[in-house]
Amino acid sequence: MKTVSPTPTHRDAAVAVPLLDLRRQYEGIREEILAAIARVCDSQGFILGPEVEALEREIAALTGAIGAVGCASGTEALWLALVAAGVQPGDCVITTAFSFFASASAIVRAGATPVFMDVDPGTLNLDAALIGKHLAAKRPKNLRAILPVHLYGQCADMDAFHQLAEEFSLAIVEDAAQAIGAEWRGRGAGSLGVTAAFSFYPTKNLSAYGDAGIVTTTCPEMADHMRRLRNHGSPRRYYHDEFGWNGRMDAIQAAVLRVKLPHLANWNHRRQQHAATYDRLLAEAGLASTFTSNADASPVRPLARSPEATHVFHQYVVRAARRDELRQFLADHKIGSEIYYPLPLHLQPAFSYLGLKAGDLPVAEQAAREVLALPMFPELTEPEIRRVVETIAEFYG
Ligand SMILES: Cc1ncc(COP(=O)(O)O)c(C=O)c1O
Repeated sequence: MKTVSPTPTHRDAAVAVPLLDLRRQYEGIREEILAAIARVCDSQGFILGPEVEALEREIAALTGAIGAVGCASGTEALWLALVAAGVQPGDCVITTAFSFFASASAIVRAGATPVFMDVDPGTLNLDAALIGKHLAAKRPKNLRAILPVHLYGQCADMDAFHQLAEEFSLAIVEDAAQAIGAEWRGRGAGSLGVTAAFSFYPTKNLSAYGDAGIVTTTCPEMADHMRRLRNHGSPRRYYHDEFGWNGRMDAIQAAVLRVKLPHLANWNHRRQQHAATYDRLLAEAGLASTFTSNADASPVRPLARSPEATHVFHQYVVRAARRDELRQFLADHKIGSEIYYPLPLHLQPAFSYLGLKAGDLPVAEQAAREVLALPMFPELTEPEIRRVVETIAEFYG
């Protein structure tokens, strides 16, 4: 007798909801991607060159920056952005305690010291008001720059940072790794400071097929400087004016990114629609209200949105009661989720030399206990979002 393996039912097929599924994007652009990679192979030019230069022009146009310089990763982009902005060994740079490690490790690599500050409880972006108070009371010696991170795809309060930069003569270096296509009052992330760093890590809104990044600037001389720095401080082959590094971008990554770039606006728009769907379904289920204060008793609180910001929802993040139990429950129901980030930067062992301790930056510390990123990518479907919300509702009973 012939055994027939059971046909997956609609329910089975719909069960797993991944945090991110890159395969769905690839299916739609496969032929173009393979043709772009073949174009580079046919040219046998693998590093920098015309593909990287074209991408640099396209990203400068997208962000509204004067120039863009392709490089090896978002981390490399941050280092280039800091050095070009004038950060030198012995300087201090203010940044958020609630970000990916690279936001701060790039400061260390530039020879400077990060000064960690707490975040706004609504958006979890760096709290400019707090920095203002801190600087008015005591300005750290050799303070050179502020590095706000546009966390999860939403710009930090750039009005307030511009004021601080002016008042205290500081350079603004944007960590826009998660925020390509985001805006503040209609101006693109990447054109809001003197320099800005973007990551094209495969999970990002615009993602390469490996590591890649780009740095943008509003100052032409800084673009030239970063072009030299990413190539061993070399203005022409085998002549070196200063110490740079090998931070060059591969042509294959640029070619892949150029296939994807025309889709970015639509992909970001779909992310915004998914966020609106999450907001609506969570509210309809009586589970959530957007974060207003710690007194809010809703079990699930999506982060606050700044009216001046065009959020591109790199992540859709909520603050959740009994977060770790909820995450396990979602995993048991084959629903992906992630914690960005479980330990704030000032409590990372690598930064113990700064002497900060638990309790010093309480908003970031509380966020680390509560945040949960839910599935978010352009090809996510409404039934999948519905299933995520129904499963959350089931958990809270
Ligand atoms: C906020 C932030 N900064 C910096 C980086 C570093 O980028 P990359 O992984 O491309 O080096 C990332 C990405 O991982 C990030 O999310």
